Amino acid sequence: MKSSSARNPAATASLNEGGGVVLPKHVAIIMDGNGRWAKARNMVRAMGHKAGAETFRTIAYHCRDLGLDYLTVYAFSTENWKRDKFEVSAILRLLEDYLLEAIEKMVSEGIRLNILGDTEPLSERIKSLISRTIELSSVISGFQVNLCVNYGGRDELTRAAAKSNLSGKPLGDCLDTANIPDPDLLIRPGGEKRLSNFLLWQLAYTELYFTDTLWPDFTSAEFDSILAEYSKRNRRYGGA
Ligand code: IPE
Ligand code: IPE
Ligand code: MG
Repeated sequence: MKSSSARNPAATASLNEGGGVVLPKHVAIIMDGNGRWAKARNMVRAMGHKAGAETFRTIAYHCRDLGLDYLTVYAFSTENWKRDKFEVSAILRLLEDYLLEAIEKMVSEGIRLNILGDTEPLSERIKSLISRTIELSSVISGFQVNLCVNYGGRDELTRAAAKSNLSGKPLGDCLDTANIPDPDLLIRPGGEKRLSNFLLWQLAYTELYFTDTLWPDFTSAEFDSILAEYSKRNRRYGGA
C-alpha cells in the first residue's frame, strides 16, 4: 500500500497530520440512505437520489485529488427493480444525466469511467451513452470510477461461471471486475450492516466500515476520517 506522501500533497495534508497515513488504492461504497434522507425532509424519494448523486460527484473528485486508483460505487442493484416504477425511472434518469456529464466533463478532467453490472436490460439510450463513455475513457489512465448499475454479486458470479465454462478461463478473469484489484476498503453509509449483494467475490479480504450517516449527508471530511481509521487496521489475509 502506498503512503499518502506519494499522493496529492494538498489533498492529503489534513489526513497526514500525524504522518504516515496509508491510503487504500481501491475504495468501494454502498451509497445507501437516499430514501430516508428525503423522507426526513418530506421530499419524494427521487429528491434523495438527486442529493445522493451530488455526494457521489463530490466524493469522486475527492478520491481523484487524494490520488486513489479506484472508486467503485453501488448505484442500482439487480434487486432495486422491485421499487415503484417512478423511483426506478428517476434513478435511471440520474444515470443518464451523469453519463452525459461524464462524457462532457469528468472524462476531460482525468476521471476514467467504467460500468459494472448487466447493462443488457437498460434502455438503448443509456446503453449507447455507456459505450460512448467507455470508449472516451479508454485513453485515460489514472483514477478510475466503477459505477455499478443493474449489478448484483450473485448475478455477476452466475454470468462469470457461464463465461468461464465456455472459455476455460479462471472465474476471476470472467467477472465484471476482471483486471481491477479487489477493494481495500468498503464503506456503507445509511446504518445497515449488510452487503446487499455487492461484490460478493471481491470483498473476501476487504476492510469493512459502516456509518449511520445517510449518503446525501456524507462528506469528504467523514471520508478522510474513515481513511485515517483504515490506516490503523492490521490486514493479515489469513497469515500470522
Ligand atoms: C440507496 O438509497 C440508493 C439506491 C438503492 C438506488 P435508498 O433508496 O436505498 O435509501 P433508503 O435505504 O431507502 O434510505
Ligand atoms: C443497496 O441498497 C443497493 C444500492 C445502494 C444501490 P438497498 O437499499 O437496495 O439495500 P437493502 O434493501 O437495504 O438491503
Ligand atoms: Mg437502502
